[in-house]
Amino acid sequence: MARRLKSVGLLLIMSLVLVLAACSSASKEGNASTGEGGGGSSGDKLVIGFSQVGAESEWRTANTESIKSAITDAGHELKFSDAQQKQENQIKAIRSFIAQKVDAIVFSPVVETGFETVLKEAKDAGIPVFLADRAVDIEDDSLWVTFLGSDFVEEGRKAANWLAEEMEGVEGDINIVELQGTVGSAPAIDRKEGFEEVMAEHPNFKIIKSQSGDFTRAKGKEVMEAFLKSEGENIDVLYSHNDDMAIGAIQAIEEYGLKPGEDIKVIGVDAVKGAFEAMAAGKMNVTVECNPLFGPQLVDLIEAHAAGETLEKRISVKESIYTMDQAEELLPTRKY
Ligand code: AHR
Repeated sequence: MARRLKSVGLLLIMSLVLVLAACSSASKEGNASTGEGGGGSSGDKLVIGFSQVGAESEWRTANTESIKSAITDAGHELKFSDAQQKQENQIKAIRSFIAQKVDAIVFSPVVETGFETVLKEAKDAGIPVFLADRAVDIEDDSLWVTFLGSDFVEEGRKAANWLAEEMEGVEGDINIVELQGTVGSAPAIDRKEGFEEVMAEHPNFKIIKSQSGDFTRAKGKEVMEAFLKSEGENIDVLYSHNDDMAIGAIQAIEEYGLKPGEDIKVIGVDAVKGAFEAMAAGKMNVTVECNPLFGPQLVDLIEAHAAGETLEKRISVKESIYTMDQAEELLPTRKY
C-alpha cells in the first residue's frame, strides 16, 4: 500500500512538472510571434540581452549608459554587447543571446537591412525583440515587438526648416555640404530624406557635396577637409547628420582659415553638450535634438510586454531644437 501511494505521488509530481514546462514555453512563443505580451508578471527578474551599435558618438555613450542603468536599476540581469559599428558583430551577439535563452533582446541595428534571418531565429526561439533608437527595413513586422526611438525624418525637416528661416530673403544659391551618418543606417537615410523634402520647396538650396562621415568626429573632420579643398569659400552651410561630425568639421573649417558659425553656417543633430559648447562659442548655429535618454521608458515597455500588455508598433521620443542664442543658458542643464 505504502509503495502504491509513493508511485501515485511520483506520478502527480511528474505531471505537474510537465504542465509547468508547457505553460512556460507557450508563454515565450506568444511573446515573439504575435507581438502580444507573454503573460508573465511585471515583477519577474528578466535576463535582457542588449546589442548596441558602438561607441561612435557622445550621443551613443549617453544612450548606452541610459539603457544599461535602466535595466540593472530595475533589478534585471544585463548581457551587453558592443558591435563596434559592424553588422556581423550584431548578428553574432543576437545569436549568442538566443543560445543563452535570454528573456528579451534589445537591439539597435547598425544598418536597416540584412537582419531577417537572425530576427527569425529569435522569433522561433520565442524571444521578444525590442528595437531601440534605430529601425529595420523588414516587411515582416512580427519579428519585433516594438520600436522605441526618434523620428529621424522629422529631425531632417527641422534642420531644413531652420535653414529656410535663417536664409529668408537671401538671393541666389545657398551652397550646402552634407556630412551623412553611417551608410545604410536609419538616421542617415531618414535625416537626408527629411532635409531634402523641405529643400524641394527652396530651389535655391543646393547640396554641392555629400559624403558619409560615419557619425564620428575624426571622419567628420577628414571629410570636411576634403569638401573645403574642392569647394573652399563656395560653401555657405554645413548640414551634419550628427553633432560629433559637426564638431570635427568645425575644427577643419578653422584650420582652413574660415569662421564656423559665420562664414559657414553649421547645423547638427543630437543636441549633445559638445554642440552647446560650440554654439556658446559662436561656432555652431543650431542643433536638432535627438534624445538618447530613453532607457527607463524602454524597460517599462519590456516589463509591460512580459506582463501581457500589447504594445504599439512604434513609440516616439519627444524632441526639440536649440539655437546659438539659447546655448549659454541651457548648457549647465544638459544631461548628455
Ligand atoms: O541613431 C542615432 C544616431 O547614432 C545619433 O544621432 C548619432 O550621433 C549616433 O551615432
